[in-house]
Amino acid sequence: MSRDTNKKTRIFRPFTPDDFPVMKEINFSNHIDQGGALFGALHDDPNYFVVEQDKHVIAYVNVLEELPDKVRMSRCADPIHPGGIYVKQVAVSRSHQGSGTGSFLYQKIFERYPSVPIYAHIHASNRTSALFHLKNGFAPCGLFYAKKHYGQEHYLCFLFVREAGYGQKT
Ligand SMILES: CC(C)(COP(=O)(O)OP(=O)(O)OC[C@H]1O[C@@H](n2cnc3c(N)ncnc32)[C@H](O)[C@@H]1OP(=O)(O)O)[C@@H](O)C(=O)NCCC(=O)NCCS
Repeated sequence: MSRDTNKKTRIFRPFTPDDFPVMKEINFSNHIDQGGALFGALHDDPNYFVVEQDKHVIAYVNVLEELPDKVRMSRCADPIHPGGIYVKQVAVSRSHQGSGTGSFLYQKIFERYPSVPIYAHIHASNRTSALFHLKNGFAPCGLFYAKKHYGQEHYLCFLFVREAGYGQKT
């Protein structure tokens, strides 16, 4: 038997409408209590990408190629780069978390958008996501506070950025 027989192959690709039910399940299963890990339902947006393994979608990311107001409304020490892009939501199915799928997905996004900074908001209580983003080259650069946001009172999240060309040798 080949040594590679048990190696799982992950495929990165743009989503198709057929993926939506599974993506919704992943989204729903990651809502924890009221202030869950994910805020906001999936919407009709073309900029979703998925990871497929054994013909099943196991992760998705939603990338906005224009920065939303929530970024501009964040308090930051440094100016926001207007050409930056924004990760609105990233999620891995619960049974596949912690095995490199999220990092694989991000690596593909970094390859797709090599020359722009990438922004993401991370809820103040989402330690896993903060560590995940730090590990993937993001660093905190600001914060966003709203008295009410997605039904949550005193909503606080950090703005993270991954600078363009992070990790590349000069
Ligand atoms: C956050 C999330 C996308 C990370 O994806 P993942 O596939 O589980 O992450 P990876 O396996 O690629 O982990 C990469 C790094 O993230 C950190 N990390 C991941 N899961 C972690 C956990 N449970 N606890 C602490 N650190 C964790 C580690 O630093 C890890 O590196 P290591 O394996 O060398 O220790 C995934 O856990 C998820 O979908 N969570 C629920 C939804 C969510 O919170 N999305 C983010 C909203 S901003």
